[in-house]
Amino acid sequence: MKFPLPLTPLLLLLCFSITQGLKTKCDTQEQGSDLKVFHVFSPCSPFKPSTPLSWEESVLQMQAKDKARLQYLSSLVVAKKSVVPIASGRQIIQSATYIVRANIGTPPQTLLLALDTSNDAAWIPCTGCVGCSSSVFAPAKSTTFKPLDCQSPQCKQVPNPTCGVSACSFNLTYGGSTVSSNLVQDTIKLATDAVPAYTFGCIQKTTGSSVPPQGLLGLGRGPLSLLSQTQNLYQSTFSYCLPSFKSLNFSGSLRLGPIGQPKRIKYTPLLKNPRRSSLYYVNLVAIRVGRKIVDIPPSALAFDPTTGAGTIFDSGTVFTRLVEPAYVAVRNEFQRRVGNATVTTLGGFDTCYSVPIVAPPVTFIFSGMNVTLPPDNLLIHSTAGSITCLAMAAAPGNVNSVLNVIANLQQQNHRILIDVPNSRLGVARETCT
Ligand SMILES: *[C@@H]1O[C@H](CO)[C@@H](O)[C@H](O)[C@H]1NC(C)=O
Ligand SMILES: *[C@@H]1O[C@H](CO)[C@@H](O)[C@H](O)[C@H]1NC(C)=O
Ligand SMILES: *[C@@H]1O[C@H](CO)[C@@H](O)[C@H](O)[C@H]1NC(C)=O
Ligand SMILES: *[C@@H]1O[C@H](CO)[C@@H](O)[C@H](O)[C@H]1NC(C)=O
Repeated sequence: MKFPLPLTPLLLLLCFSITQGLKTKCDTQEQGSDLKVFHVFSPCSPFKPSTPLSWEESVLQMQAKDKARLQYLSSLVVAKKSVVPIASGRQIIQSATYIVRANIGTPPQTLLLALDTSNDAAWIPCTGCVGCSSSVFAPAKSTTFKPLDCQSPQCKQVPNPTCGVSACSFNLTYGGSTVSSNLVQDTIKLATDAVPAYTFGCIQKTTGSSVPPQGLLGLGRGPLSLLSQTQNLYQSTFSYCLPSFKSLNFSGSLRLGPIGQPKRIKYTPLLKNPRRSSLYYVNLVAIRVGRKIVDIPPSALAFDPTTGAGTIFDSGTVFTRLVEPAYVAVRNEFQRRVGNATVTTLGGFDTCYSVPIVAPPVTFIFSGMNVTLPPDNLLIHSTAGSITCLAMAAAPGNVNSVLNVIANLQQQNHRILIDVPNSRLGVARETCT
């Protein structure tokens, strides 16, 4: 599978030149339970684009990608079995914007897995896979590799298992892709932690372009997730800090387990939707623009496990999406506060200015925790600084729009702590370099 170029080239709108000579930095040893998190276009990423795009083009493509991501998230919410429709024409992936390094097998084979906090799955493309990229995991070269058979308890936890020649296999859809995998076990090493007999899908066949080229590390909390499989080691606790798109040279971090987590951090309760256990729901109660709490109908923010409505933190969506009435209230107040400057649009962004503006602060008010977005998490600027847009949008109208998604541009340079045992999500400012 070819990795489609036009993913989230925010960096390109920042006119980044990919530079050489970072090899040593990329190869830096990871310590303890801390993994480096790279932007998919970082100099350390083999998936960086080869041809730059114009700013306008990049923004349109990022939005198209987000649209597919939101359709994917909505499909999780309503638990549809069918393949989720994706925007036509272009190849669009839902793969996360950030990647981490994992060593799989004995001796270790290094793969760069996409980080997806809204998914439980771990899949790795394996030798012989039809439709995968050229970087695959070679089970034959690992002495610790083991296929799982149909009688294994894990086989009962995968969707639609089928029995192959004796091995357990299963098919599922991810975004616009279908994925056919064998259920297998091998050692996975994350930073210096080895997880023996880790259960994952060894991809045999895939269609579409949604599957990340070297695999997926799902950080959801469902039954077969990494978190569930590493209870003793990590106690369903992790945090991450996503580096800004502006600082591609920098890596963020993924810190697994309760050790070394920040002490000074604000928390809001995590909510659990039994129908969609992998999503990290929180209770967004209001939004403040400047000093004013904007008028949002309570139903636009309410958590409802039946319909899937509510608010989630997601690492794979780029721009925050609010359901229509919530977005309209925020946008109108934002525009009112900015004043008389002419409002223009750019793709799906409807609040852009071609003159310098003074933006009002925007605060998400969660149960017990207020998060005020610094300007870098609120606005995007074109290369020349000539256009500034409010970096949020209404949830697309053509999907089951019940979900508010706090996306990765809004999370950058913050540490997000997921503490499942205490059922809480923490947020603290941090420059993740
Ligand atoms: C799963 O996918 C494989 C390969 O595309 C196909 O041969 C098989 O019939 C599928 N199984 C089910 C249960 O859909
Ligand atoms: C990124 O690294 C390159 C090469 O080391 C350097 O020339 C460039 O200035 C760096 N950019 C930033 C934003 O730090
Ligand atoms: C907007 O324009 C009106 C009329 O020209 C003026 O009275 C008002 O002060 C301006 N507001 C801002 C925020 O500049
Ligand atoms: C959050 O902001 C609201 C509205 O401004 C305020 O009433 C509330 O006390 C704040 N909550 C926290 C935890 O700071």
